[in-house]
Amino acid sequence: MVISAETRAAIDAQIQKYPQRRGALLPALHLVQKEKGWIAPETARELASIFEIQPIEVLEVVTFYNMFYDRPQGRHHVYVCTNLPCSLRGARDLVHALEQHLGIEAGETTKDGRITLGHEECLGACAWAPMLRIGETYHENLDLETAKRLLAELK
Ligand code: FES
Repeated sequence: MVISAETRAAIDAQIQKYPQRRGALLPALHLVQKEKGWIAPETARELASIFEIQPIEVLEVVTFYNMFYDRPQGRHHVYVCTNLPCSLRGARDLVHALEQHLGIEAGETTKDGRITLGHEECLGACAWAPMLRIGETYHENLDLETAKRLLAELK
């Protein structure tokens, strides 16, 4: 068992809210990821057992939604929006500059485990492009120096 008893109890409570057991898979993934930080293969197998589905069905959901992680993550998730409006305002250059600044490529985590850098599609803040999110917090109208300062503040 890799899922804690506390999280398992919360998953069971979610299952009670849905007419079909598998309907609670998304909230269960949120709960497990909150506990573990990511969805490891053994975690996916345990969830599959709980939901009476195949492990591949759990992984299909994990890899479809970008809010779930199928590999270990840094303590801070930094995601730059690279959809068209942000790209027109320099987002792709910003990603490349941050890759160089951190010494990693998008999708990777710094060696100290501090930051995972990524890019993703429109986050709904196009009017304030370019923007990035750190966890759930948006930072808008960015330039490289502001972005570097934000990263330096992450412990
Ligand atoms: Fe970046 Fe919409 S394109 S927030």
